[in-house]
Amino acid sequence: MRIFILSVIVSVVLQTTAGYTEEAKAGENESPIKVEMRLLNAAFINLINALVLNNPKAIEEPFHEVHKAKANTEKAIKKGGLKLPKNSDKMKQFIEMDERFHKEMEALIVASRKGDMKKVQDMTHKLLDGCVQCHTMFRN
Ligand code: HEC
Repeated sequence: MRIFILSVIVSVVLQTTAGYTEEAKAGENESPIKVEMRLLNAAFINLINALVLNNPKAIEEPFHEVHKAKANTEKAIKKGGLKLPKNSDKMKQFIEMDERFHKEMEALIVASRKGDMKKVQDMTHKLLDGCVQCHTMFRN
């Protein structure tokens, strides 16, 4: 009986974990940019918390997931399979904006490693401008 209950618990836990992973990975036909954006959104919210609570060490980790997701977006761009909601024919400009944004993210991470919260704050403002600028052009 105890083993039975235990195995029920284990299977419920496993199913729940699998569900979360599935959600993060997104559906078959979902645009890789949406997946990247949701991870970026989470990393950015975490960044704002870390900034206002003066906790530089908490900043970097969620950006690693964004970095991994970017590789998938790049693959889709190379295959010509990335469709943007707006101005999809201006892919060159999108790539340039994306590259600039990712360079700024790297500068942010370097500043967070040094515990330079003044620079972190400046980069956070810059990044926010970058979100709005790119969305205005390619999404909204
Ligand atoms: C270089 C361009 C670019 C930058 C920079 C950018 N985004 Fe996006 N984002 C997009 C595009 C394009 C979409 C629309 C994707 C689609 O609907 O296919 C999008 C969609 C989103 C979505 C909706 C995802 C969904 O599931 O529909 C969120 C949330 C988001 N971005 C957050 C952010 C945040 C936060 C930042 C800044 C920290 C940011 N983005 C910076 C291009 C960008």
